[in-house]
Amino acid sequence: MTNIKNIGVLTSGGDSPGMNAAIRAVVRTAKYHGLEVFGIRRGYQGMIEGDLYKMDTTDVSNIIQRGGTILKTARSKEFMTNEGMKKAYEQLKKHDIDALVLIGGDGTFRGAAHFFEAYTIPAVGIPGTIDKDLTGSDFTIGFDTAVNTAVEAIDKIRDTAEAHDRLFVVEVMGRDAGYIALNSGVACGAEDILIPEQATDINDVLDRIDRDERRRKTVHIIVVAEHDDFGGARKVKDAVVARFPGLDVRDCVLGHIQRGGSPTYADRVLASRLGFAAVNALVAGTTQVMAGVVNDKVVFTPLTEIIKDGYSINGDLIEMIRVLSI
Ligand code: F6P
Repeated sequence: MTNIKNIGVLTSGGDSPGMNAAIRAVVRTAKYHGLEVFGIRRGYQGMIEGDLYKMDTTDVSNIIQRGGTILKTARSKEFMTNEGMKKAYEQLKKHDIDALVLIGGDGTFRGAAHFFEAYTIPAVGIPGTIDKDLTGSDFTIGFDTAVNTAVEAIDKIRDTAEAHDRLFVVEVMGRDAGYIALNSGVACGAEDILIPEQATDINDVLDRIDRDERRRKTVHIIVVAEHDDFGGARKVKDAVVARFPGLDVRDCVLGHIQRGGSPTYADRVLASRLGFAAVNALVAGTTQVMAGVVNDKVVFTPLTEIIKDGYSINGDLIEMIRVLSI
């Protein structure tokens, strides 16, 4: 057990549905332990500026179902500088904050690791990102909701694609990771899925369209991740049009709708478990780790390993859709 008294909690990087549920769990668990909680607004930028407030259990009432983050979020360039980190640490000292809960993704934990090289303060990370581009947890908060949002949108696109006999190239988010593309693509019965983790051979993609055209397949949906090496939905569409001038082709970028909306039950449960676990870990003296869920069990992985290991993608799903889309 430690003698932590005041916990600071922040959300950083791209927001993700379920962050509010995690904040709620952190605040209520801390209060249960008799701790004070400070909500730090706008991530590390708010830490630098001392933009924080004392939170009570009622401050997190009625937020478990809300997307976004009541603490707001930011990607702070200043925090990447020595001066910025110094200011942030001084603010923590000024407010007697003696532990942190950091809710965010890869960039958040990279920033944290850099900060902890210079300053000592107990901290636990919670994976909150729609991209799922982290090791140490089977799922990240917001991924499930984002995939469901993409699925709902692609289903709608399929309706209109079928009505017009059109081919659609749909671009989804994911930064450098193909998880959203892969999972929404499989769930929507996409004819092809292009992800950053696999080099895209556009001639293969076009050959597959050719094959489908010969068999008079009525709908052809290609889901492409935003950072696929061939260059996104517009470029894929242009390549299709160049080879098949007779085809009616459209592209659609789903964009930030994937980051908003009410979190699914899975994201709410995950966020609640991880918020609860993060504070309990701090109280028990487990620090500089990220809380995750692996095989339905809460596990803690050192932050240094999280940023070193990256993540791996399930290539089997790609092979599977080649069969399921015939
Ligand atoms: O990390 C979440 C994410 O939505 C990525 O999928 C995407 O590449 C990026 O953030 C977009 O960032 P911004 O909202 O700053 O444009």
